[in-house]
Amino acid sequence: MGVKLTKALLLVFLYLKFSLCNGVSINVCRETERKALLDFKEGLKDPGGRLSSWIGEDCCIWRGIQCDNQTGYVVQLDLGNKRPLHDMFQYGPRSEPLNGEINPALLGLKHLQYLDLSMNFFGGIQIPAFIGSLAQLRYLDLSCAGFSGLVPHQLGNLSHLHHLDLSNPFYSSWNKLFIVGSYWLSNLSSLQYLNLNFVDLSKAPDWLESLNTFPLVSEIYLSNCNLEIPDSLAHVNFTKLRVIDLSSNNLHSVVPSWLFKLTSLESLDLSANAFKELIPSAIGNLTSLRVLNLANNRVLEGGVPLSLGNLCMLNSLDLSVNKYLHGDLNELGEVFSGCIKDSLEILNWAISELTGHFPDWLGNLKSLKMLNLYVNLFYGPFLQFRLHSLKKLDISRNTLNRSVPVNLGQLYPKLEFLDFAYNNLTGVLTEAHFAGLAKLQHLGFSANEFRVDLGSQWVPPVGLNRLAMWNSKLGPGFPSWIQKLENLSVAAFSNAGISDTLPGWFWNFSKNLQLVDLSYNDIKVSQFPAYLEYLLLSSNKIAGRIPETLCYLKKLPALDLSKNQFIGEIPYCWNHFL
Ligand SMILES: *[C@@H]1O[C@H](CO)[C@@H](O)[C@H](O)[C@H]1NC(C)=O
Ligand SMILES: *[C@@H]1O[C@H](CO)[C@@H](O)[C@H](O)[C@H]1NC(C)=O
Ligand SMILES: *[C@@H]1O[C@H](CO)[C@@H](O)[C@H](O)[C@H]1NC(C)=O
Ligand SMILES: *[C@@H]1O[C@H](CO)[C@@H](O)[C@H](O)[C@H]1NC(C)=O
Ligand SMILES: *[C@@H]1O[C@H](CO)[C@@H](O)[C@H](O)[C@H]1NC(C)=O
Ligand SMILES: *[C@@H]1O[C@H](CO)[C@@H](O)[C@H](O)[C@H]1NC(C)=O
Ligand SMILES: *[C@@H]1O[C@H](CO)[C@@H](O)[C@H](O)[C@H]1NC(C)=O
Ligand SMILES: *[C@@H]1O[C@H](CO)[C@@H](O)[C@H](O)[C@H]1NC(C)=O
Ligand SMILES: *[C@@H]1O[C@H](CO)[C@@H](O)[C@H](O)[C@H]1NC(C)=O
Repeated sequence: MGVKLTKALLLVFLYLKFSLCNGVSINVCRETERKALLDFKEGLKDPGGRLSSWIGEDCCIWRGIQCDNQTGYVVQLDLGNKRPLHDMFQYGPRSEPLNGEINPALLGLKHLQYLDLSMNFFGGIQIPAFIGSLAQLRYLDLSCAGFSGLVPHQLGNLSHLHHLDLSNPFYSSWNKLFIVGSYWLSNLSSLQYLNLNFVDLSKAPDWLESLNTFPLVSEIYLSNCNLEIPDSLAHVNFTKLRVIDLSSNNLHSVVPSWLFKLTSLESLDLSANAFKELIPSAIGNLTSLRVLNLANNRVLEGGVPLSLGNLCMLNSLDLSVNKYLHGDLNELGEVFSGCIKDSLEILNWAISELTGHFPDWLGNLKSLKMLNLYVNLFYGPFLQFRLHSLKKLDISRNTLNRSVPVNLGQLYPKLEFLDFAYNNLTGVLTEAHFAGLAKLQHLGFSANEFRVDLGSQWVPPVGLNRLAMWNSKLGPGFPSWIQKLENLSVAAFSNAGISDTLPGWFWNFSKNLQLVDLSYNDIKVSQFPAYLEYLLLSSNKIAGRIPETLCYLKKLPALDLSKNQFIGEIPYCWNHFL
């Protein structure tokens, strides 16, 4: 037994040794590169200790480093501080941005293929020109890293680059990247992905010709770049392009015709410009298109071309914030009977002065998952089509003036989000209206003209987490069915005609309660919560001393207790958040 084990161990040992000698799994750092990395680290400031693992002999196991497993050279340096943009300024213990300077010692990493310094904060320094000498780079991400000034043309030397991201969404006057003349860009002949969002290209009028030289490019992002866009392009060469984003450039011209020759295009974003003329019928040539965003222009003034119906792959169409004043929406029936009717999953046509009854062709869009028609002038009946895939329906802020159909659950069994607030809907809203809407999470019906009759025995869709019922006649009793909603996070019942005592369970029936608005009722409140983010209780009957409990609501950024009947002093602890 013992002998066998020793033999086995010996074999393992020999195998390991053999592997190492053959260089198959060598993964030990080169001394020159280790020194280069330490010099580079020396230049950085690292308040969060993100580089605390950068000690010891084997730099290949340091955080963010990868070495080639054959040669041991450092091939990857990933110090990106990746997190969602909306969390940009929420630093956790291990995500504080690096700052300081970028030491040219980096050039010691001659085999570096991948460099990511994104989402750090280099305080407005220029992108170092020497990065252009890291000749092996395939991947370069310097986005959101606090670089500013002229983008060095030396980057044009990176002829192997596939992926270049210099996007800079949190720019300011002292922290703004710009490009002067884009001739050098055309040198990046291997480029497949280019993101220059928020980089000023107003001094690079040749940008389109430069990009047109990339034979392989598949994604180009040029949002918020101060672009001028040429209408013509002699020969469209970048035909592998799948994604182009030209949004938010204040483009005034007609929608340029060369776009419609990019027949591989899957996503086209022209939103937030000032394109005036109608959508050209050539849009029908983009038969691979899946996402089309024309929001916030005036492209609909001339109508919607029939050829839009040919887009058999189109999933997502955003026409919101465009005026469509040319009368009868029913005339679009022909467009929406093309194959677009089977593919469309998202239709966003909010804030566009659409009027009349909901057009019948909406009922043909059987794949529809999300329909946004809020802030328009639709009147007449509620939306009443069988749309069995629909998950989100927002028809709030129109002037619908009939009653709510009782078979919502049969029409839209998959609904997760339903909002018909701020209309002129009439009749009585009862439990029957919500039967079968088992997946509902958001329900908004504030400010209509119907009476609400939801009995205390009602079992609401149990997954509801947001209820918005301002200006709805829910009272006079406190709606006790709320107690069944264990995941409720928003409870907004301002001016709901409630004249009652707040039940004892109210502050702990849900673990998720974040926003409570009970203002403009006649509610007697004697107990207060231990944790909430927003609490609005103005104009109620809260009498007596302001409760000390409230001292523990340290995260509370909004608290309104005005127009009640408090006596005594405001508790001392409120200095924390007032
Ligand atoms: C070496 O790296 C390559 C890619 O970098 C990988 O495909 C391969 O599996 C690795 N080999 C070993 C032995 O780890
Ligand atoms: C450009 O690349 C060449 C060859 O790799 C190199 O000799 C030259 O120094 C580089 N130029 C710059 C400005 O980095
Ligand atoms: C373009 O690349 C060539 C070699 O491939 C190099 O000599 C030249 O300096 C580069 N131009 C720029 C502007 O980087
Ligand atoms: C585009 O392709 C045409 C035809 O192949 C060629 O003549 C032209 O030089 C190319 N243009 C650019 C900017 O690469
Ligand atoms: C659209 O395609 C048709 C047929 O292939 C072609 O004749 C027309 O020129 C194209 N339009 C544009 C603007 O590319
Ligand atoms: C609904 O509103 C429209 C447009 O204002 C009006 O013509 C119609 O008579 C109203 N219908 C009802 C039932 O109130
Ligand atoms: C619709 O309701 C709004 C308030 O929600 C009201 O101002 C308006 O007069 C109503 N319109 C009709 C036609 O009833
Ligand atoms: C409440 O949320 C939790 C966690 O997301 C989930 O597991 C649970 O099923 C939810 N409860 C209901 C009734 O939807
Ligand atoms: C619920 O909250 C009330 C008031 O804050 C408290 O008196 C009661 O003990 C709580 N019940 C549970 C089960 O936590």
